[in-house]
This record gives sequence, C-alpha cells and structure tokens, in this order.
Amino acid sequence: MSGPPRSDDDSAIEIDPEVLRDDGSSFADFADELNSFTTSCDPSITQFKFENGRRYHAFKSGSYPLPNDDIELERQSVVHFMVKMVLGDKLYLAPSDGFHHVLDLGTGTGCWAIEMGDTHPHAEFLGNDLSPIQPSWVPPNVRFEVDDIENRWAYGAPFDFIFARALACAIGDWPKLIRQAYDNVKPGGWVEFQDFDLEFYAEDGTYSQTSSAALYIRMLMSSARTAGKEPCPGPKLEAWIKNAGFINVSYQKFKLPVGPWPRDQRQKDVGLFNLVQAVDGLEAFSMQLFTSVLKWEPEEVKVLCSKVRAELRSKTSHRILDYHVVYAQRPET
Ligand SMILES: C[S@@+](CC[C@H](N)C(=O)[O-])C[C@H]1O[C@@H](n2cnc3c(N)ncnc32)[C@H](O)[C@@H]1O
Repeated sequence: MSGPPRSDDDSAIEIDPEVLRDDGSSFADFADELNSFTTSCDPSITQFKFENGRRYHAFKSGSYPLPNDDIELERQSVVHFMVKMVLGDKLYLAPSDGFHHVLDLGTGTGCWAIEMGDTHPHAEFLGNDLSPIQPSWVPPNVRFEVDDIENRWAYGAPFDFIFARALACAIGDWPKLIRQAYDNVKPGGWVEFQDFDLEFYAEDGTYSQTSSAALYIRMLMSSARTAGKEPCPGPKLEAWIKNAGFINVSYQKFKLPVGPWPRDQRQKDVGLFNLVQAVDGLEAFSMQLFTSVLKWEPEEVKVLCSKVRAELRSKTSHRILDYHVVYAQRPET
C-alpha cells in the first residue's frame, strides 16, 4: 500500500509533474469539489457565545480559542477522514484490541468514539469535551459528557485505553494532562496521543518565510503561547509521555502534504483533504486569538486569512505539515 511517507524515513515527497507544469490555475476547484462531498455530525446545541460571526463553547467560556460551529465541525470531519487515510484506515495505532473501557479526551464531533463504538461492540466509550456538539444518535456503548480535561479528573474506575487527538491550541499544561492519563489508565493499559505541528515547511525551498502564510503562522504561535496554549504539541508528545513514566513508548511522524501536489495518488488525496481543512481552519484558529491577544480588528484577521488562503491554493508551493503519533503503556506494577 502506498501512503504518505513518515518523515522519520527521510524520503522527500515526490511532486506530481503535472503540478510542476503550472498553468496559472489553482487548487481551488479540487478543494471546492471535496468540500461539497464532506458532511459533519449534527451538533446538539446549547447556549453558545457568538463573536465575529463564529460560535464558541459556553462551558468554561473563552478557554478554547476555536469555534464550535458547523464550519468547524465539518473541518474536524475532514481531519478525521484524512488522519484515518494517513494511518492506513486505522483509528489508532496502539497494539491492543482487548480494551473494555475507553476514554476519548476532547472528543469534538465524537466521530472517533462513534466509529470505535461501532467496531468494538464489547467495549464502552466515553468522550468528553467543552462543547456538547456530539450527535445524540450514537451506538449504545458510546456516551459523551461536557468536561474540562485540564481540571482534575474524577473518574470512578480507571480506563484500559485513553486516546487524545488534535488538541493543538487547546491545552496549557500538557505534562499535567499526560500525568492524569497515567493516573487514570489501568496498569498494563495503553494511551495514544496524536497531534499536529502547525508549522508549515517545504522540502524544495518553495515555502517562503516572507509569505503571508509564514506571517500567519508566526502570529498564531505567539498569540496561542501568550494565551497559555501550546500550538505545536506533536513533536513534544514523546518526551512528555516518557517523563510521565509510561513504557513501551512508540513514536511515528507522518508528513501531510498541503494540496494535491504529490505524484502518489494516496498522498495527493491526503493533500487535498489537508488543503480543505487548512483553508477552512485559517479563521477558526486565528479569529479569537488575534483579536483578543494581538488586538487586531476582525477585518485585519479576515484580510490576512484571505491572503493565506490564496497562497495555500496556489500550485507553486509544496507545503507540508507534520503529524505525530505516540502510544505507550502504563507499567503493570
Ligand atoms: C480540533 S478539535 C479535535 C476533536 C477530536 N479530538 C478529533 O480529533 O476529532 C479539539 C476539541 O478539543 C476540545 N477541547 C479543547 N479544550 C478542552 C478542554 N480543556 N477540555 C475538554 N475539551 C477540550 C474542543 O472543544 C474541541 O472540540
């Protein structure tokens, strides 16, 4: 099976020669086509806060900078499909299947927990999130609750698998979160964390540090960190997990092209999903952080986002984002 190479195998992603013969067109048509095929899980809605045209969580209001509206839920669905494709159609990589009691931290749309519930009918799944945006039509072994995972966890019984995915810009104290995962997983149980490094790069010098995309990323990094949230947890996961005392730690890094520029068809598909989620995510990641931390006007954020959107859709830059997966086991004793 072909697939996006892991960055740790050091091979560069090969570029589609058709893309190199740039005719001045952009990837926009591909992306619009894909957008029309994607669907999101129906959210159950409560009293959410509305700001600058986006909807935000109500519980612990202001603590998570991304919105929870339909556009964001659709973006999460795109990320879900993309990540599954990258992982060879798997929902997780930890080597266990014999779990009975599973926790999904920051479950979002709940798509991961729902698919896991469908495919693992013997196990019980609990997904928690600041937002009650998960659908109510779920398998009988899946339930959701509103909770802040940065608070002290108060679960009666330990889990045998704890999973967390795509929490960039969500968490302030990652070592504490991972220690809580250690304390709440059974001896011999597994944890798996999957996350992004939100920094773009290119292997052929086509990503310029003077581009609008690079300016956007610098602003995102500094505003998220000023707000006390880590925007690039992926590359740090392994060390945090080892420091918490886990054993049998396994780490893999995957290169995700941004745009359908790779020659390989599967990587091209991943690139297309990634382009869609990146374009849809530009305003989601920046609007609250740039207006509240950097004191930008909403219009300034929109102007920068539209410049970055145009750059992302152009065929001339071969951007990549890295995705990191770490799984590990709590010692038996
Ligand atoms: C980008 S989404 C990822 C959702 C899901 N893990 C996935 O991979 O599809 C991040 C989610 O984390 C949730 N979140 C952020 N901070 C949280 C916190 N302190 N406690 C619980 N959930 C949180 C957000 O509400 C959002 O739904």
